[in-house]
Amino acid sequence: MADKDGNILAKDYGIGIKPPLQTFPVKGHQSAGWGMQRRLSEIFSDDGRTIMLAFDHGYIMGSTAGLERLDLVIPPLMQYADCLMATRGALRTCIPANHRKAVALRCTADTSVLKDDMSFGTVGVDIEDAIRMNASCMAVQCFVGSEGEIDSLRNLSYYVNNGEKYGIPVLGVVAVGKEMERTTRYFSLATRLLAETGAHIIKTYYCENFEQITAACPVPIVIAGGKKIPEKEALEMAYRAVSEGAAGVDMGRNVLQAECPKAMLRAIRMVVHENAKPEEAFKAYELWKKDVK
Ligand code: R5P
Repeated sequence: MADKDGNILAKDYGIGIKPPLQTFPVKGHQSAGWGMQRRLSEIFSDDGRTIMLAFDHGYIMGSTAGLERLDLVIPPLMQYADCLMATRGALRTCIPANHRKAVALRCTADTSVLKDDMSFGTVGVDIEDAIRMNASCMAVQCFVGSEGEIDSLRNLSYYVNNGEKYGIPVLGVVAVGKEMERTTRYFSLATRLLAETGAHIIKTYYCENFEQITAACPVPIVIAGGKKIPEKEALEMAYRAVSEGAAGVDMGRNVLQAECPKAMLRAIRMVVHENAKPEEAFKAYELWKKDVK
C-alpha cells in the first residue's frame, strides 16, 4: 500500500541537464524495440561482439565427437561463452536452467546428413515454445540457391515475423549443403539475402575477402568454425574474422574437439573480446591446457 503522508518530497529533477545520449552497440539495431535490444544485449557484450558456443550438431549429425555427453561437457565450458547455441531437446535435458548465458535456440527442423539434399527444412519450435524457453534468439537454417530455398525463406519469414511481434531476434544460419560453393560471391549473396529478409544476426563461414561481406551486411555476422582444424589455425581464423568485421564466432567442433576445450574457449575469448593476436592466444592456450590436465 502506498504511503500517503510522511514521504520525503521529490526535488532532484536535474533541471537543465539533457537526458544522456543512448547508444546501442549492436550493428543495425540502434532503432530496435526495447525488448529486442534487451535480448541482443544478452548475446552481445558492450564491445558489440559475442562468443557463441554451438552444440546443436546432433539435430542433423547425431552423436558427434566431443558432443557425446552434453550434460558432462557443456556446463564446465559455459562460463567462457556469451551465448549457448542448442536445440530445445539438448537444453531441456542437459543444461540446468539456472545459468545467466544467452540462448540461441535452434528452431528449424532440418533433414539429416544422410540426405543428399538437406535443404528442405521446416518450422520446428513454434514461437510459443521459443518464448517459453526464454530464447535470446531463434536460429534458422537457410539454404540459399538449393532446391529447398523457398522452404528456407518461408521458415525464416515465419521466425522474423513472429520475432518482430515478440521482440525476439532471429539468427539466420547460412547453410552450405554438400554441393554448395564456399566462395565470396556465394556468402556475399546469402548473407545479404538473409539480412534483407529480416534476420537480425547472420552466421556464415569465413572466406576470402571477408571484409566485403561484413561491410555489405547491415547486421552482425558471426562465423561458424566448421570441421576441426588445428587449434592455432582456428584462433587465426577467429582473429582474421573479427579483424575483418565479424561480430564474433559461433563455434562448435573447433572448441569441443580441441585437445582442451576449456583452454580453447578461453583463448577464443582473448581474441574476440581482448583483441589478442592469435600467437598470443595460442601461447595462453598451451599454458591453460597444462593447468587443466
Ligand atoms: C550446424 O548446422 C550447426 O548449426 C553448428 O552449430 C554450426 O555448424 C557451428 O558449429 P561448427 O563450429 O562445429 O561448424
